[in-house]
Amino acid sequence: MNLVSLKDVLEPAEKGGYAVGAFNANNMEIVQAIIESAAEERSPVILQASQGAINYAGLDYIVALVKAAAQGTDVPVVLHLDHGTDFDQVMRCIRSGFSSVMFDGSRLPLDENIAMTRRVVEIARAVGVSVEAELGKIGGTEDDISVEEREALFTDPAEAERFVKETEVDALAVAIGTAHGPYKGEPRLDFPRLKRIKELTGAPIVLHGSSGVPDDAIRKAISLGVSKINIDTDIRQAFTSGITEFIKKNPDNIDPRKMLAPAKAEMKKKVKEKMRLFGCAGKA
Ligand code: G3H
Ligand code: 13P
Ligand code: ZN
Repeated sequence: MNLVSLKDVLEPAEKGGYAVGAFNANNMEIVQAIIESAAEERSPVILQASQGAINYAGLDYIVALVKAAAQGTDVPVVLHLDHGTDFDQVMRCIRSGFSSVMFDGSRLPLDENIAMTRRVVEIARAVGVSVEAELGKIGGTEDDISVEEREALFTDPAEAERFVKETEVDALAVAIGTAHGPYKGEPRLDFPRLKRIKELTGAPIVLHGSSGVPDDAIRKAISLGVSKINIDTDIRQAFTSGITEFIKKNPDNIDPRKMLAPAKAEMKKKVKEKMRLFGCAGKA
């Protein structure tokens, strides 16, 4: 199946009251694990590549890998740029065949974020590519800041209303208490803020930093309007534990394929578990 845009998978998700998983990939085994899981679970899927993934694997390799995997299946696959902060790179991704991009202007002053995001939307829309943007700052679990300092970076609902109206983005990433990377304690999500943002914007909402967020909190976030859920750390951990276990048991093995097979199996287990939790399993 050809690649589809975020709009194609998020509209049915909003109507159906579920969310679509957006999984980060960096190499062939991760791409295969994500797409095979989607095919086996009959789930729409968003496969995303960060700037780091593109620097690691190369833009043309990422596009070719995902296109090859998507062509072998009949479930909807979105190829999405994750946290694109560089306008020129966003344009290169569109030209190279991404069906969706995130322009992350969250570090810019509000007016500049709006202006740059709007520019990306105008260009992307002309060629049928969807756009996600970020308002507020999501940050990482390793950032050395207090709870109060993090809350000061949360998305402001009134600003979100203006942002969506002026940019017409297809999805909005919000800062409501999640962070990228492994959590030390349990993340606390600001659900009233999420509810207000959804009411004021009406836009599909994206939850970043979703690895390690308890299942109940994920279900509640979906019920309040989250329809795209980003997972990277959980996949990295599954990959690493698959390889580590194999090497421990088979110290003399030198065949990379034998090491990567259990890594892929662990990743598939994790991705399928998330698809069932998000409610997208069985929706394709
Ligand atoms: O949001 C960040 C993603 O987990 C991607 O991380 O930039 O190390 O590829 P990365
Ligand atoms: P985690 O690595 O915390 O799952 O976050 C992924 C993410 O938000 C990618 O944009
Ligand atoms: Zn993110």
